[in-house]
Amino acid sequence: MSLLGSFKNPFKSNDSSHFPNDLEPLWMPFSANKDFKKNPRLISKAKGMYYYTPSGEKILDGVAGLWCCNAGHNREEIVEAIKKQAEELDFAPAFNMGHPKSFELSSRLTQLAPEGFNHVFFGNSGSEAVESALKIALAYWREKGQNEKTILIGRKRGYHGTNFGGLSVGGIEKNRDQFKKFLPEVYHLSDTHNLQKNAFSKGQPIWGEELTKELEDLIIEHGSEKIAAVIIEPVAGSTGVLIPPKNYLNKIKKICTENNILLIFDEVITGFGRLGKAFASEYFNITPDLICLAKGINSGTVPMGAVLVQDEIYNAFMSKKDEKVIDLFHGYTYSAHPLACAASLATLDVYKNDNLFERASELSFYWQEAVHSLKGTRNVIDIRNLGLIGAVELEPMDGKPTRRAYNVLCEAFHDQKTLLRVTGDIIALSPPLIIAKEQIDQLIENLKITLQKTE
Ligand SMILES: Cc1ncc(COP(=O)(O)O)c(C=O)c1O
Repeated sequence: MSLLGSFKNPFKSNDSSHFPNDLEPLWMPFSANKDFKKNPRLISKAKGMYYYTPSGEKILDGVAGLWCCNAGHNREEIVEAIKKQAEELDFAPAFNMGHPKSFELSSRLTQLAPEGFNHVFFGNSGSEAVESALKIALAYWREKGQNEKTILIGRKRGYHGTNFGGLSVGGIEKNRDQFKKFLPEVYHLSDTHNLQKNAFSKGQPIWGEELTKELEDLIIEHGSEKIAAVIIEPVAGSTGVLIPPKNYLNKIKKICTENNILLIFDEVITGFGRLGKAFASEYFNITPDLICLAKGINSGTVPMGAVLVQDEIYNAFMSKKDEKVIDLFHGYTYSAHPLACAASLATLDVYKNDNLFERASELSFYWQEAVHSLKGTRNVIDIRNLGLIGAVELEPMDGKPTRRAYNVLCEAFHDQKTLLRVTGDIIALSPPLIIAKEQIDQLIENLKITLQKTE
C-alpha cells in the first residue's frame, strides 16, 4: 500500500515534475523507510557546495554527499567528460579485453599513490574494493605457497562495506546483528574510542597506542604463519569518526611487517584529499600493502572502487609459467567502466588544477577551531577532527539510543537547510574540499542552532 495518501508534500513546489508520485516501491538502503516516507528529504539538483530540493530550496552540503563529492557538486569539467565518454564508448568488457582510459587512469592513480604502488584493480564501490583487497591478500599467500595464512583481522567498530567479506572484518554491531553469518577465522582488535581519556581531543588523541598490543597477542595465540592480513580504516568514518591515536598506526604497521602479515588500509573515505594529502598513507607516512579506494576517486559521480597494489603482491601473480592462463579469478562486469574512468580522469585534473588537497590542508586548522567551537553546546559530549573531517558526539536519549542524532539530522535538513550524516548518536561532518571559510562558519552555526533546538 502506498503511504502517499497520508503524505503531504512539504515543498511549495512549482516544479512538481521532480517530485515522485509514489515513494513506496523504493526500499531505501540503511534507512528508516517508514519515517522517511512520511516526511521525505529529497534532493534533485546540485551545484558546488549546495544541493537543491525539488522546490528549489538550497541545502548546504556538510558531508560531500556521503563522503564522496570532494571536488564539489556538478563540476563542469567532470560532467563534460562523462557526456563525451557516453557518446564515444558506452561499455567495454573488462575480462581479457580493455579500453584505453582504464590504462590511462591506472597510470594516473599510481602516480598519485605512495611509492611501490604501481598497479590498480577496479571494482564499483568501496565494498567491492574491500572484497577485492581481501581476496587479493588471501590469494597472494596461496601464490607464495603459504597456504596456512588464512586469518583476517579487522577492528571493532570498523566499517568495510556491506558484502560478506567486509561485513566479517567490519565491527559495527548493528550492521552485523541482522545477519549472523560471517567468514570464519576472523578476529577483531578493539576500537580506539575512549571518552574518559580522549574526549575533545584536537587532531590525533594521545591515549591509545597501547591497544596495538592486542595484535601482538593475537599473533602469539594463532601464530603469524596463519595470519593473512590486517585491515584498518586509517580514520574510522562510518562508525562516527574515530581518529587514530598518536603512534597507533605506525605501531600496527611495524607489527605487521615484523610478522610478515599484509596491512590493508581501507581509504574509501580518507582517499583523495580528505586529510590534506592524496591518501592517509601519505598523511601518516605509513606504507601499507594494499589500499582500498572509492568515493572521491571520481568525486562520487559514477560508481567506482579500486585497490592500489604494491609491486611485490602484483608480481607474485605474474610469475606463472603459462602466460595464457588467468592470474586472478576475480573481477566484475563493470570493473573500470568507461564512464567511471572518464569521470575519474577529469576529477583528478580538477583536484590538481584547483590544488584541492593543499586547500584541505590549509583549511584544516580553521576547520578544527570551528568544529570545536561547538563544545558546551547542548548534549555535546565529545568533538573530534582531522583534516576536513569532524564529528560531534551527543549524549544518547534515555532508553532511545540513536534517536537524538536522527532528530538532529531531520531538523538540520528541514529547518536549517543543511545536510549532515549521523551514525549512532554521532554527527559526522566531511564537506567538499571546495568549502569556503564563510561556509564552514555557516555549517557550524546551522548545526549549533539545530543542537540547541533538539530535545
Ligand atoms: C571505510 C569504508 N569502506 C568501505 C565502504 C563501503 O563503500 P560502498 O558504500 O561504496 O560500498 C565505506 C562506505 O562508507 C567506507 O567508509
